[in-house]
Amino acid sequence: MTFATVSPAPLADLDTASLREAHSAFARAYDELKGAGLKLDLTRGKPSAEQLDLSNDLLHLPDGRFRDAAGTDLRNYGGATGLPELRSIFADALRVPVDQLLALGNSSLTLMHDTIAFALLHGVPGGELPWASQSVSFLAPVPGYDRHFTIVERFGIRLIPVPMDENGPDIAAVASLLETDDSIRGMFCVPVYSNPTGAIYSEEVVRALVSLPAAPDFRLIWDNAYAVHHLTDERPQPIDVLALAAEAGNPDRPLVFASTSKVTYPGSGVSFFGASPANVEWMLHHLSAQSIGPDKINQLRHAELLKDADGLAAHMEKHRAIMAPKFAAVDSVFRDRLAPWGAGSWALPSGGYFVSLDIADGAAKRAVQLAKEAGIAVTPAGATFPYGDDPRDANIRIAPTFPPLAELATALDGLCTAILLASAETLLADRD
Ligand SMILES: Cc1ncc(COP(=O)(O)O)c(C=O)c1O
Repeated sequence: MTFATVSPAPLADLDTASLREAHSAFARAYDELKGAGLKLDLTRGKPSAEQLDLSNDLLHLPDGRFRDAAGTDLRNYGGATGLPELRSIFADALRVPVDQLLALGNSSLTLMHDTIAFALLHGVPGGELPWASQSVSFLAPVPGYDRHFTIVERFGIRLIPVPMDENGPDIAAVASLLETDDSIRGMFCVPVYSNPTGAIYSEEVVRALVSLPAAPDFRLIWDNAYAVHHLTDERPQPIDVLALAAEAGNPDRPLVFASTSKVTYPGSGVSFFGASPANVEWMLHHLSAQSIGPDKINQLRHAELLKDADGLAAHMEKHRAIMAPKFAAVDSVFRDRLAPWGAGSWALPSGGYFVSLDIADGAAKRAVQLAKEAGIAVTPAGATFPYGDDPRDANIRIAPTFPPLAELATALDGLCTAILLASAETLLADRD
């Protein structure tokens, strides 16, 4: 789309007359967009149907087999730690020793939820009291994952935002909060291809997180959801958070979570929990009151599909081939439509499922609303902050994986039209 009457320049630098002119052009483009009657969705980070097809062998596996390598009949109760063959496929990628890695149910979020519930009710190793008998708060790197926030918000745990940069959470802020607030019991971390910024925690940041002085029952909720979800050849060296924590004298601090949700079928996959021996024992103890063992037939299906660590890597390359062009489309549309007006900043991630876009302060909610009214659903502005409150009202999370490429490009183009209009409106309101 071109604007013949105005030449692109950073919107904020335009004099008021030029800004009004740009606003009128954006408003006309937006009216045209609304007239197109679109119905497109950029909300949740879901694999596309084409990606799901990569795992269709799951629909007929396991081919009549029902025993593991040791001869155990997987059709029956038991096997609380999960199928050893599947645990060894993921142990290397997650950097968790196989005997400290559990393969469990279909959702890592369920595991995180239940872990926090167990901690509230019973306490954790090293803690004197159940969390619920103390005042409890959690650190939340922002922008972050809304479903993490929801878990603790529902439990009445206070969330304290901590800013993120490309190397992970701001360690000076974490250190000062841990020093001054003794109610802090946990912190959410997505160490690789963070949701939504794509940040990769540096080793320095990880070393600081496992060694900063904190309460003995302080836990890092180490959600390694995107450990194997690369989009380029540039691979982060997996960091062995459990070894670093043990080295720092805090072996029980990290609790590692992951799942096959975005490897195979979300909702029909396998989750993982990795931790120190004391934490693994604690987890198994509490899980044993809840279930007589996980779905090992599903785990066998997954082990047969993925075969080994190389098979897992090869499978993820097929995902990459489908996803990478979609991320490139986000970058290209934003460069074409937003960059000339200085109307957005984003970083193209080298993995994961999201692009985090910052627009003019005060314009994000309005942009998302305008996009919605034009038939383009975008994750609500503010969702990437605790309590849905982005203090700058600037961040928008883009989830480009689900729609087909052509639809994605149309949706992004329409979103940019909404963003330009919202930005011009916001800037003009500031000049009044
Ligand atoms: C960081 C992160 N953790 C966990 C999940 C969901 O995991 P699961 O499907 O295993 O519950 C997502 C899904 O978007 C996610 O982005």
